Amino acid sequence: MRVKSKMNFPLTLSLSPKGEREYEWIICTMELAMEQVKKVPVKKIGIIERYQEFLPVTDKTPIISLNEGNTPLILAEALPHEIDLSDVKIYFKFEGLNPTGSFKDRGMTMAVSKAMEAGAKSIMCASTGNTSASAAAFASRCKMKCFVLIPEGKIAKGKLLQAFRYGAKVIIVKGNFDSALELVKEITATHPIQIVNSVNPYRIEGQKTAAFEICDDLGDAPDYHAIPVGNAGNITAYWRGYSEYKKAGRSVTLPKMLGFQASGSAPIVLNQVVKNPETIATAIRIGNPASWQGAIQARDESGGIIDMVTDEEITWAYKFIAEREGVFAEPASAAAVAGVIKLAKKNYFKKGSRIVCTLTGSGLKDPEFALSFDDKMDAVEPTMKAVLTAIGL
Ligand code: F0G
Repeated sequence: MRVKSKMNFPLTLSLSPKGEREYEWIICTMELAMEQVKKVPVKKIGIIERYQEFLPVTDKTPIISLNEGNTPLILAEALPHEIDLSDVKIYFKFEGLNPTGSFKDRGMTMAVSKAMEAGAKSIMCASTGNTSASAAAFASRCKMKCFVLIPEGKIAKGKLLQAFRYGAKVIIVKGNFDSALELVKEITATHPIQIVNSVNPYRIEGQKTAAFEICDDLGDAPDYHAIPVGNAGNITAYWRGYSEYKKAGRSVTLPKMLGFQASGSAPIVLNQVVKNPETIATAIRIGNPASWQGAIQARDESGGIIDMVTDEEITWAYKFIAEREGVFAEPASAAAVAGVIKLAKKNYFKKGSRIVCTLTGSGLKDPEFALSFDDKMDAVEPTMKAVLTAIGL
């Protein structure tokens, strides 16, 4: 018999009457299922809808969201072998795939939603770039004014143009991030403008959801969590997230928190404010972190470490994960990977353990650093000979 299905399954089959009935039944069921699928709209929800029960929101909170979060946990393939750690699993929590290209969107959806709920008309932040991009995007979504203070000359181009294009008022300050943050604190304390740096507690609340996602994906917390440290809000947030999930019975174990600063900007490691912080990883070029205590608490309660990595180590890790893992993250993100490599060399990790590295931002954010490796960009003649010569064949 020939069965013509609405689903375009034209099949010629030789079937007994019973088989014929069964075949028609299967086709019918599949058609029904397809109809159902079409009726359910595909919906990717943001972190507030997904983890509402863990967040300080009510039915009255307007949710200003860009469907942030739900970022992939990517298993590293080449890295464990490269560093002789083939008996552990390393995962990248790739936060560069958030709507504005960094983890800041998690905290910003919370901070801006709560600012809206409180009736704020404008927000302000100091930033090494990503916070300003994210603040500007979320503000534009709810017609709020957004003012951002940026340290002169030390911000990746991609981030700067995001702030402009999302419509923020960008003020470039002749100083570093730390002095810009002091100014923002002063201005927002005396004017009706909401601060959205991570001293705003809602930022940390939103950012802790990344730890929830990791536990959901792995079935439990990892053994170690490596993360770059700048203003120290994110390490504080992750530790809170892991702790709350365990308390709620949604996970069983807790990770050791491993924070990494750049060696030219390592106040927590050196236990003193760094007046003139320097590093190629401009996102974490911070000499006096606002959440210093939160980072210390995360380190001590988890039995972890806060260490530093050099610009050379960061650069090596940055290139390796792009060239061998296919994951393009910004230099600050690579600090977490560089830190894991440093500790692996000291045989720090237990056999069979799982390590998660947060890759905080996309590599596309910093095109200038990405193009600083004298890649050949001269055009060749459009001939077979010229192209083969260029390839080296
Ligand atoms: N990685 C990236 C890509 C960042 O942008 C930041 C911070 C960090 C790591 C460090 O996170 O500050 O919570 O310890 N960027 C802030 C900004 C300072 O202004 O965008 P942290």
